[in-house]
Amino acid sequence: MRHTKVKDLLNSTTTLEEVNAKGWVRTFRNNQFIALNDGSTINNIQCVVDFENTPDEILKRITTGAAVSVTGSLIESKGAGQKYEIKVSELEILGDSDAEKFPMQPKKHSLEFLRENAHLRVRTNAFGAIMRVRSVLSFAVHSYFQQKGFVYVNTPIITGADAEGAGEMFQVTSLPLNNLPKNEEGNIDYKKDFFGKHTNLTVSGQLEGETFAMALGQIYTFGPTFRAENSNTSRHLAEFWMIEPEVAFNDLNDNMDLAEDFIRYVIKYALDHCADDLKFLEARLLEEEKSKPQTERSEMSLLEKLNFVLENNFKRISYTEAIDILRNSTPNKKKKFQYSIDEWGADLQSEHERYLVEKHFKCPVILFDYPAKIKAFYMRLNEDGKTVRAMDILFPGIGEIVGGSQREERFDVLIEKMKALGINEEELWWYLDTRRFGSAVHSGFGLGFERLVLFVTGMTNIRDVIPFPRTPMNAEF
Ligand code: 4AD
Ligand code: MG
Repeated sequence: MRHTKVKDLLNSTTTLEEVNAKGWVRTFRNNQFIALNDGSTINNIQCVVDFENTPDEILKRITTGAAVSVTGSLIESKGAGQKYEIKVSELEILGDSDAEKFPMQPKKHSLEFLRENAHLRVRTNAFGAIMRVRSVLSFAVHSYFQQKGFVYVNTPIITGADAEGAGEMFQVTSLPLNNLPKNEEGNIDYKKDFFGKHTNLTVSGQLEGETFAMALGQIYTFGPTFRAENSNTSRHLAEFWMIEPEVAFNDLNDNMDLAEDFIRYVIKYALDHCADDLKFLEARLLEEEKSKPQTERSEMSLLEKLNFVLENNFKRISYTEAIDILRNSTPNKKKKFQYSIDEWGADLQSEHERYLVEKHFKCPVILFDYPAKIKAFYMRLNEDGKTVRAMDILFPGIGEIVGGSQREERFDVLIEKMKALGINEEELWWYLDTRRFGSAVHSGFGLGFERLVLFVTGMTNIRDVIPFPRTPMNAEF
């Protein structure tokens, strides 16, 4: 007999004579009630064991974490909390779990302890819910772009392009590190390396994505990206997933419209498809916030926050307007910011971004027209000669969730910019070809997938929304 998923059993519209379920024991109460979970839903199914007719050796092996197969009838439950339960007629232990040694005890564990047990934390309610929501959100990403006719492009993970300027890179090499070949000048001879040149893990698929947008019109990437920045924060990973759409003939306003529409769509999709998990995560957040002082608690519950994003336009303001607000803000005047804002041109730190979003506007904010000096070489220079058509989207509790821009489509301006920044033209010959042959206005952005998952699940540390986080000094599993 084929087993039925717990989710389908719980959603059954009738009682059933004989069913089989397989899963892992969450708890076993009074030698009688198994709470069984198989990962198909946050909800467990209650399996009632006929303990009088079950041998003691078997009962003893029904422990938290054990894999079991139960066969019996699906009947209406007499207990509160569930509509159906399984009256067990046959029980098989598929895999024992030593109750003393199994790390996921049926009690509250710290998130830090769970991170150290990332291979087992997914067996908890919270992590099961987070990972299901993550999966649904990835599907929503594809669904959004595919419906709109975007082409999904798999940009390379190993790249020789070194010039994105998005952060420190991880080098890829097959050279023997204890015996590096040297050239005549005494430098490492990368001609002898696997690719015959210096290569890295990609920090962004944008530059390759642009070449495809200039042929296919609308494209998106969705893949892993790598940054060796040593920022041990709750919002940075060394390996994270990024979504990067790129659209020919879109200007910066079109780009902002696309980003807003896209974010709303995926959040709505999660609300529609993950109701049980989000309800659980909302309660989890509420519980977690009880330990915080009143002033640090969120004003809205998780679902209220998600619905707020659906119902309210993002506030769009220029960098220059933002600097004015920040310069005159109370924390700036009282020297409460770690980095005080004195002059136009200052790079915004996350404390400033969060002030704008959480305290001043109290809604998602899109900042645009940043100083050219603090942004990447490929962004379109404005007529003022000092700002570029860049945009960042800032979210409450997260800070920057999206970074994007209209690209510099004018060959001469781009070359000049690269020269000024010391970016190697020869290395980017292929990128420059997009400007040599049929160049046109185009725009795109990158959304950090884990930051989106953070926002939707109400979690606060990015290490808790990716299965096996990679951060400085940590690559376990
Ligand atoms: O702002 P970033 O660096 O932009 C780019 O890489 C552009 N090439 C994107 C484009 O225009 N196609 O990164 C984009 C987003 C950030 O807004 C943030 O959400 C996320 O990627 N991100 C990170 N997420 C987790 N860990 C990190 N270390 C991240 N660095 C950036
Ligand atoms: Mg950025």
